[in-house]
Amino acid sequence: MPDPTKNVPQDLRREYTKDALLESNVLPDPIAQFDRWFNDATLAGLPEANAMTLATVDTSGAPSARIVLLKGFDQRGFVFFTNYSSRKGRDLAANPRAALCFFWESLERQVRIEGTVEKTTRQESEDYFHSRPIGSQIGAWVSQQSEAIESREALDRRAEELLAKFVNTGVPLPDFWGGFRVVPHTIEFWQGRPSRLHDRLQYVREGDRWKIRRLCP
Ligand SMILES: Cc1cc2nc3c(=O)[nH]c(=O)nc-3n(C[C@H](O)[C@H](O)[C@H](O)COP(=O)(O)O)c2cc1C
Repeated sequence: MPDPTKNVPQDLRREYTKDALLESNVLPDPIAQFDRWFNDATLAGLPEANAMTLATVDTSGAPSARIVLLKGFDQRGFVFFTNYSSRKGRDLAANPRAALCFFWESLERQVRIEGTVEKTTRQESEDYFHSRPIGSQIGAWVSQQSEAIESREALDRRAEELLAKFVNTGVPLPDFWGGFRVVPHTIEFWQGRPSRLHDRLQYVREGDRWKIRRLCP
């Protein structure tokens, strides 16, 4: 007997009807197009429009994915900040390629970005690190991101110790912390359409130009 208070995934279904994505109304430059969609997402009041899935691959070829926050983008690429010794940091040191994915639910839009990855300059990491609240700066020092830790208390104790240590001097940027920039070679814009016949326009870099093609949904 099915439980009427529970939803099963196969019964969740929604039609996408908000918009269309046509060759005639996209910009020739995908960064400008991203800027336009990112702006739409923030204006729509999406709570964390800059949250994106980051996929990396380790030396054995195994993928892993997690959410990180986009902190800047321009013609050079898409920047996020993290612990360089974390699982993702180690993956990217060994295999500097990544994929990013945004889902802007109320706009029925997805953006997929693929490319090579480089570290931001130390100065960029310094500037961003020092723009963060002091608690987050301490947090970067406290967390040996992706490593096992014996307890929550151990984490909190270490945060208190480091706060006391740095309270008068300011918090320096840890060597193991900074930015990565995903330099895109492919960017796909996806707009949901009725009956699963969605619009997909994919930009592929060719030299210093971008070629646009339509993909089947
Ligand atoms: C909304 C959201 C934003 C996040 N932003 C970041 C971020 O900008 N940088 C980061 O290192 N981790 C961020 N995280 C945590 C990561 O998802 C992940 O747990 C952490 O980076 C460890 O990943 P790893 O072990 O694969 O390296 C965020 C998580 C969520 C849910």
